[in-house]
Amino acid sequence: MAPPDELRPAAGAPRRAVLAPPIVDYAVEAYGLRKVYRTRTGKQAAVDGLDLRVPVGGIHGFLGPNGSGKTTTIRMLLGLVAADAGHIRIFDHEVPLAIDEVIGRVGAIVEQPRFFPGFSGQKNLKLLAKAIGAPRRRVAAVLDEVGLAGRDKYRNYSLGMKQRLAIAATLLKDPDLLIFDEPTNGLDPAGIYQIRDMMRGLARRGKTVLVSSHILAEVQQIADTVTIIGRGRLLAEGDVNQILASDGHLAARVGVSDHLRATEVLTAAGFTIEPLQNRILKVSLANHKLDLAVITRLLAEQGLYVSELTPIQADLESVFLNLTAGQHLAARQELRRQPARRPPPQPRQRRPAQQQHRPERLRQPELPDWGGRP
Ligand SMILES: Nc1ncnc2c1ncn2[C@@H]1O[C@H](COP(=O)(O)OP(=O)(O)OP(=O)(O)O)[C@@H](O)[C@H]1O
Ligand SMILES: [Mg+2]
Repeated sequence: MAPPDELRPAAGAPRRAVLAPPIVDYAVEAYGLRKVYRTRTGKQAAVDGLDLRVPVGGIHGFLGPNGSGKTTTIRMLLGLVAADAGHIRIFDHEVPLAIDEVIGRVGAIVEQPRFFPGFSGQKNLKLLAKAIGAPRRRVAAVLDEVGLAGRDKYRNYSLGMKQRLAIAATLLKDPDLLIFDEPTNGLDPAGIYQIRDMMRGLARRGKTVLVSSHILAEVQQIADTVTIIGRGRLLAEGDVNQILASDGHLAARVGVSDHLRATEVLTAAGFTIEPLQNRILKVSLANHKLDLAVITRLLAEQGLYVSELTPIQADLESVFLNLTAGQHLAARQELRRQPARRPPPQPRQRRPAQQQHRPERLRQPELPDWGGRP
């Protein structure tokens, strides 16, 4: 493939060694994905022109509230449901057209897989390995990987053990891409920790993990990159730290001896105040970055001097709420005009890492108006 223009020496320029930046690739690329369901009340766009890019290697969080289209998107990626529009590439293969080329490299849990309740986890996996043509020796390896002995009967498994066995099953063929739809749903903190730990282990071994969740705080702890969706549309994508940094300081801890007077002063200036313990106030400004100097000046003008002033680091939860500005972001209840489509990527271009991402630049499209773009 020809190098991008900026890496090509200009005509007549002296020949110099050009160090090509590392090539970054995507495990999953989807553009303009759309899925409309017919319901009793009419048509409903569950996924509405969604773009999704999952870099190879690491953990990619796929985040959105209940009903925002995560499962529908994952089902389209896996060829379980046909997309009405859009293009999907998995490891450079057009899906679903060339799904056979890549399906062996993908392991997924979308629904709770069925196992024989009267058989042990190990026996269940042996049967499954035979059915899918995975080597029998993988059974012990994957049970070890998910930390299960596998000797108890499946019917006696806890929810966490069932989920770990489901993950073990996806690993039988040693796939490069793992897609887990809300894998920690219903688990207790210990179970959640184990699944997280397992996903981290997979990423360390060079696998790509695409994990969906509606609990942002949970994914923030493990994801390298994220895609945030609402009502079937992209709200933000990119590196988790970048997304958090882009949020600025949305709140600050302010310590002041006369906290009641300080509350009056800051409230009058438009700040939102939440009293914390020990005369500390949590000060925020809806949807705006906080200028800490303004807070100190306003208070000092009233003879109030701060003993503590600490920005509160944003978390994905607050970024998400900020992005969605309190709108209810489940799929919309009625179908409106179809938004404009961006052309599919043609032909596939690999770009240098520093230009695209791993992760790509933070992309925060304008907040959708839910009425469709012109
Ligand atoms: N088979 C279906 N027929 C009709 N509507 C559907 C179907 N599957 C999903 N939907 C609707 O599409 C929307 C998106 O659903 P989806 O399950 O993809 O969301 P989700 O983000 O996975 O939600 P959750 O976090 O609750 O799992 C919802 O409004 C849902 O009711
Ligand atoms: Mg779902």
